[in-house]
Amino acid sequence: MFSKNFLWGGATAANQFEGAWDVDGKGPSVPDMCTNGERDRSKRITQEIRPEYLYPSHEAVDFYHHYKEDIALMAEMGFRCFRMSMNWPRIFPTGMEDTPNEKGLEFYDRVFDECKKYGIEPLVTISHYEMPYALASSKNGWLSRETITYFMRYVETIFERYKDKVKYWLTFNEINAGQMPLGDIISTSMVSGYEGPVDKIQHTEQERYQALHHQLVASAMTVQLAHKKYPQYFLGNMMTFVVGYPMTCDPKDILMAKQYMQQTDWYCCDVQIRGSYPYYAEKMWRDRNVKLQVLPGDLDILKEGTVDFMTFSYYMSICIGHDGKKDGVSGNLTGGFKNPYLKSSDWGWQIDPVGLRYALNEAYDRYHIPIMITENGLGALDKIAGDGAIQDSYRIDYMRKHIEQMELATEDGVDLMGYTCWGCIDLVSLTTGEMRKRYGMIFVDKYDDGTGTLERHKKDSFYWYQRVIQSNGKEL
Ligand code: BG6
Repeated sequence: MFSKNFLWGGATAANQFEGAWDVDGKGPSVPDMCTNGERDRSKRITQEIRPEYLYPSHEAVDFYHHYKEDIALMAEMGFRCFRMSMNWPRIFPTGMEDTPNEKGLEFYDRVFDECKKYGIEPLVTISHYEMPYALASSKNGWLSRETITYFMRYVETIFERYKDKVKYWLTFNEINAGQMPLGDIISTSMVSGYEGPVDKIQHTEQERYQALHHQLVASAMTVQLAHKKYPQYFLGNMMTFVVGYPMTCDPKDILMAKQYMQQTDWYCCDVQIRGSYPYYAEKMWRDRNVKLQVLPGDLDILKEGTVDFMTFSYYMSICIGHDGKKDGVSGNLTGGFKNPYLKSSDWGWQIDPVGLRYALNEAYDRYHIPIMITENGLGALDKIAGDGAIQDSYRIDYMRKHIEQMELATEDGVDLMGYTCWGCIDLVSLTTGEMRKRYGMIFVDKYDDGTGTLERHKKDSFYWYQRVIQSNGKEL
């Protein structure tokens, strides 16, 4: 059974949602320099805005000018929580200024006030795949230790400003993406001097793990600051949880799957929740030829900056094995082998609701702290019928099955705080930059070629989710 204060809601990210990329003093972010792509055509990053390309984040779905309408729709669905992220270059346009951009701060004041009006609790991701482009290009993103200083300036500013308006914060979105070949550019913003397809940028393991170390230190410093100065804050981590099942019962596959989960799922979590690198980290670094530069004091920072709750996104599972001849599948920044028991979404992500119960049990067993699912959902092609209805029964089916498994996990004994499904309103896809890959329960009239009225329409899933929340998960 879900607790009576269960945080039902939805999740978004500034760069995929807000638009207004150069309005009211905002500087360009790394995603603002990314063009659109498709499932089989990577987005490109350019060093300047080039007129021949379309940059989907520039307008996105324009939450910046639609926030009142959007929050009212969320309230109508019954949201108790709205996960959103703050746009760093809206506050510090290049990331390196001494003083913040007041107009940017005022925008979030308005958003939080609007949430409060409806009793919606904001859950704010401080960094969701976003960095001021000027900082990313001059320092090579998180590879530079200096980035920690600039980031902390941003954190101090927003912590102080919103101390009476926000209670729940997440440090970095899907921090473990930094370990993954495609995730590293998105997460660690190491884009200095690069122009071209985002899937072709190459980083060494040394660079990836070093940049990630800086993020982990920054995350721990953020948590420490909150605990010291803002006791009312509740700080969480956020990781992408990809369940890796053994492809067969061959002991080699079992071991490989275990190691996959250690390296992909637990490595960052152990640091953020237990306060130190896991016992197998030394070997991981050795195997990858990584010589991590850890400054005196870093390990103490990690130890003292552990989070209050754990959160993760869950979309899919993969199979792991040593037989390279098996069919591959794509996924949320990672890939693996196809599972013959599962079906996939239109974008090839394997749908596995039971895997969510498995993930919740694994995570709770390991850490014993409250957990929240901060992303889950189905990216699909939606159609508006002649009468204006959007019949997204496939999305309802996906969510229903995942919520059922969450409930079973609570019966198993997992302390589950809430669920914010991904992209509660249609927004730009992270991996492809498309609009047609829609996750929302609210349709936005916006298309891949940049056209559209930006009008909002309720899908069938809107009314379904409304009933789910009203009944606290009983009516599925
Ligand atoms: C998560 C990200 O990895 O997956 C979101 O945190 C993203 O930003 C979501 O949008 C779904 O991915 P995509 O590529 O389908 O938008």
